[in-house]
Amino acid sequence: MLIHSPLKKQPRQTAEPNGDIPWHYPQAKTPIHRLYELAKTGQWNASTDVPWQQDCEVAHFPSGDEGNPLLGFPDYDGLPEAERRRLSWWQHRLEIAELLHGEQAAMLIASQLVSCLPSVEAKLFASTQVADEARHVEFFSRYLHELGGEIPPPSNALMNLIHECIDEPRWDMKFISCQILIESLAMARFQELRQHTCVPLLRFAIDYILRDEARHVRFGVEFLREHLATLNENALEERSRFVLDNVLRLANSLNIYNRIGMAKGWDLAELRRHLRRYRLQHPELNRQRFRQLTLNMDAVGLLTAAGRARLERMNLLS
Ligand SMILES: [Fe+2]
Ligand SMILES: [Fe+2]
Repeated sequence: MLIHSPLKKQPRQTAEPNGDIPWHYPQAKTPIHRLYELAKTGQWNASTDVPWQQDCEVAHFPSGDEGNPLLGFPDYDGLPEAERRRLSWWQHRLEIAELLHGEQAAMLIASQLVSCLPSVEAKLFASTQVADEARHVEFFSRYLHELGGEIPPPSNALMNLIHECIDEPRWDMKFISCQILIESLAMARFQELRQHTCVPLLRFAIDYILRDEARHVRFGVEFLREHLATLNENALEERSRFVLDNVLRLANSLNIYNRIGMAKGWDLAELRRHLRRYRLQHPELNRQRFRQLTLNMDAVGLLTAAGRARLERMNLLS
C-alpha cells in the first residue's frame, strides 16, 4: 500500500468532474449492492468460455430469412443465391461492427461513470460494467476478425451519438445515455440476433452477453428511478426528449442498407421506399425493437405524456 507523506501535498485527482469524492462507505445491502455481488459471480471469459473452435459456415446464410428487410426488393431477389449469400454475410459484418462500436462506447462511458457517479456503491457496480463491456468488445472484435476482412467503421449516426455521450458533462445525462438509451437498444438488438442467427457460436456468446446487459439495465433502472423522481417536469421532459430524439435518429439511419445499395449500384430512392414499405408491413418489428426502451423509460419515469404520445403517433408502442 502506498503511504502518502503528509508534508507533500498530493495533487487532487480530476476524475470527479461533477462533485466531491464520496467518503462514505455504507454497509446497507441495497439492490445495487446485490447487483454488484451478482456481477462478481457472473464473470465469464471470452477467450476460454466461448467455443471458438466451431467454424462459421459461410456456405450457409448467417441468419434466417425472417427479419431481412432486403427480401422482396427486386434487385436483391433477382441476384443469384451465391451473391445473396455473400451480401448477407457483408450485411451481418456491418451489423456486428455497429454492435462492437456500441460496446466500446458502453465501456468508455461506463469508465466515466466510475468517476462521476455520486455514490461508492454505484461506482463499484460501474467498475464491473467496465470489465463486462471490455469482454463484449473482446468477443465481437475477435468474432469479426475470425470472419475475415477489415472491421467496418461505425455509422455517422452512431459515431455522433457516442461522441455526444462521452462529451456530456452532466452525470445523469451520461448515465441515461449509457444505461437507458444504449443498453436498451443493445438488448433489443441482441434478442433479435439471438432469434435469427444461424451461427451457433454467436448464439452461445449472446446468451452470456445478454445476462451481463440485463444486469446493466437493472442497475440503470434502480439508480435512476430515485434520482429522476427529484427532478422537475422540465428537466424530465428534456431527458425524455433527448432519449427519443437519439433513438429515432438511430432507427431512421439506413446506413447499412445504403452502403449495400451503393455498392450494388441500386436505385437508393427506390431502396428507401422499399424499406419504408417493409417497416409499415411489419410494425411488430419496430415495436419489438422499442419495447425494451419504453419499458425502461417507463420504469425510471422518463416516459412522459409527451414522449408516450410521440411513440404512439409513430406506432411504436406495444
Ligand atoms: Fe455490452
Ligand atoms: Fe452493457
